[in-house]
Amino acid sequence: MPRVAPSSPKDAIAVLKRHFSPGAALAAKVAGMGAIEAEAGGATVTLSNGRRLLDFGSYGVTLLGHRHPAVVTALTREMERVPTATRLLANPTTTAFAVELLKRYDGSLSRIWLGSDGSDAVEASLKLARRRTGRMRILSVEGAFHGKTLGALALTTGPSFRAGLDPLLKEVTHLCPEDPLAVRKEVSRGDVAAVIFEPVLGEGGVRPLDPSILRRWVDDIHAAEGFAISDEVQTGLGRCGMFSPSMSAGLEPDGVLLGKALGGGLMPLSAVVATESLAAPMVADPTWHTCSFGGHPLACAAGLATLATLPEVQPHAQEVGAVLGRGLTVLAENHGDAIKDVRGAGLMWGIELASPGAAGVALIELAHRGLLLSPCLSSDRTLRLLPPMVTSEEQVDQALEILSGTMDYLQPFF
Ligand SMILES: Cc1ncc(COP(=O)(O)O)c(C=O)c1O
Repeated sequence: MPRVAPSSPKDAIAVLKRHFSPGAALAAKVAGMGAIEAEAGGATVTLSNGRRLLDFGSYGVTLLGHRHPAVVTALTREMERVPTATRLLANPTTTAFAVELLKRYDGSLSRIWLGSDGSDAVEASLKLARRRTGRMRILSVEGAFHGKTLGALALTTGPSFRAGLDPLLKEVTHLCPEDPLAVRKEVSRGDVAAVIFEPVLGEGGVRPLDPSILRRWVDDIHAAEGFAISDEVQTGLGRCGMFSPSMSAGLEPDGVLLGKALGGGLMPLSAVVATESLAAPMVADPTWHTCSFGGHPLACAAGLATLATLPEVQPHAQEVGAVLGRGLTVLAENHGDAIKDVRGAGLMWGIELASPGAAGVALIELAHRGLLLSPCLSSDRTLRLLPPMVTSEEQVDQALEILSGTMDYLQPFF
């Protein structure tokens, strides 16, 4: 059988430059010091030159770590069955996954739509809310990130992603996250379909929203017969300690959005979990909002394995999250000049640096010292830590040591 060999490091960087973007090539070359990804497992990535890095980044996809054995086994088994659905016939893996996911919410969320990315779950929820209410305006939050497809981008506030694309969906209003009356003020015109929020603004700098304010928003949107949508693409599935931050806060959302880690860090899988009322347009017409890979059995097999594995690793994750939180507080105390704030919960933490733009330089230096983090796409001074649940306490200590050394090294910036 003919085989195509993977690119050499030099070729891979050259392809990035030639066919993707010179910026991506430069970042990859500098961060990897010329080496590229070779292998991954748990909380580590091994490079082509044999160097091993701790991975607390990967945009939060690897909540179970890289190549979790339970997910790998489930995928291998599904490959022997029907990994690609006909879409006309019922597929048992897809339906089993739907049942398992819905079990984790209270009975009011009984309908499900499946996709591949966080953004497509956002798009589906926007269409449902607009179609169901016949109203077009959506309320989002200042500093929110819901993705970069055109509809999701209209809800996202990052100016660099929006530049040159106006007008996006015009009927979007961004709410002040500190204003409990923000929804009440907006719904009086009678044109609001939904309010959408992230329980913790992720790309916006890891900023938890006040649950009492969110509760008020949900009550006010319900009083106006609109929908409340909780975007838990990043914060859900136990990333912040609880399976669903909005349900744990007693918010009673009409829709919860999931993505990223739902496919076990191996398969693209997203979901809208919705009430009968919000889901009504897709219930009435099953072809109204579909996509080729929606409910893909291979992705759903990974999702099933993920749901079964999460409770097993949750107790350890809680301990590791507590160790990390304490360690970051000490780090901030010891580096008062460099670190303005440390925020987060569970396994989602942000380190806000004292200088704007410092996060980019810090990310590269951290990678050189052996720790991969993600940037916050809408906050250039915040480093985001998204360690997997399988991270050991030793690996947390190692990460904290690398962070401390990097803050010392970057002292001249602050
Ligand atoms: C809260 C939230 N919603 C939606 C998205 C978009 O997800 P994706 O990049 O998978 O399309 C993201 C991505 O970071 C996110 O953090």
